[in-house]
Amino acid sequence: MTVILKTVDEVKAFRRAQQNKKIGFVPTMGNLHDGHLSLMETAKAHADVVMASIYVNPTQFAPNEDLDSYPRTFEEDLEKLKSINVDAVFYPDEEVMYPYGKDNTLSIEMPQSLTQTLCGLGRPGHFQGVATVVSKLFQIVQPHVAVFGKKDFQQLTIIRRLVAELFMDIEIIGGDIIREAGGLAMSSRNQYLTTSEREQAENLYKVLQWAKSQLLAGQPAMATLEKAKQSLMDLSIDVEYLALRDKETLQENPELLNAVLLIAARLGETRLIDNVVLA
Ligand code: PAJ
Repeated sequence: MTVILKTVDEVKAFRRAQQNKKIGFVPTMGNLHDGHLSLMETAKAHADVVMASIYVNPTQFAPNEDLDSYPRTFEEDLEKLKSINVDAVFYPDEEVMYPYGKDNTLSIEMPQSLTQTLCGLGRPGHFQGVATVVSKLFQIVQPHVAVFGKKDFQQLTIIRRLVAELFMDIEIIGGDIIREAGGLAMSSRNQYLTTSEREQAENLYKVLQWAKSQLLAGQPAMATLEKAKQSLMDLSIDVEYLALRDKETLQENPELLNAVLLIAARLGETRLIDNVVLA
């Protein structure tokens, strides 16, 4: 059975009833796919009780982004959570998460070294919104372990820093990227793609793998990234960034064996991200 919790008081009562059990937590925005569900399985392996949250957080969307059209599929999501025995789902309304209003909220600003780069440049305010809502969720749920996907690599890095810098007693675990058969990283936004865009999108992972193999074979980074980017541009894929970064600090010029290769690209209206670690 998956208990539905709508309010902070309901979550707190649920939490109290678990007494000394270890709580694992997976925050999501819903429209669940196998990537999300794999995080729940990971949480299960590390905890006695697994809680998920489903909340499309308005403060992490810029005004021009897809907040209104973001797929909301709670009934289907609930069936999926039940099928893998997630114990509870926190499904709050906006008034619960932002009791003073979303435009009048406390906001957590993370260091610019982590936010003013990669996705943070194309999505101003995004990571502030993520850090804010995740802090609130952590306060409400009080998990011992929380699982985030490596798909959103920069987000995972920022959450690790949030927990470290606020001395939160929460173990953060990174879950591997789950992909479609053709290699496309699963994402709730994939359903925005037309059939031909979806085929094109498979090239993101292909190019990441190609660049990874070139780099590990000793090819120079700049030229390799440039070639990789050009090959996508030739397919009319609009590359926002393709970057080689240190996988802990996200800074440039990393040691090859401590590096991650990250991409953000637009196919038509849809913005996709992906990454591979080099080691
Ligand atoms: P959402 O996009 O719903 O993703 C929820 C979690 O699922 C994130 O940790 C994300 O990295 C992970 N995830 C998404 N696709 C994945 C895939 N293909 N393989 C593995 N994990 C995957 O990320 C958010 O929501 C929000 O920013 C949130 C953290 C909930 C804050 O609002």
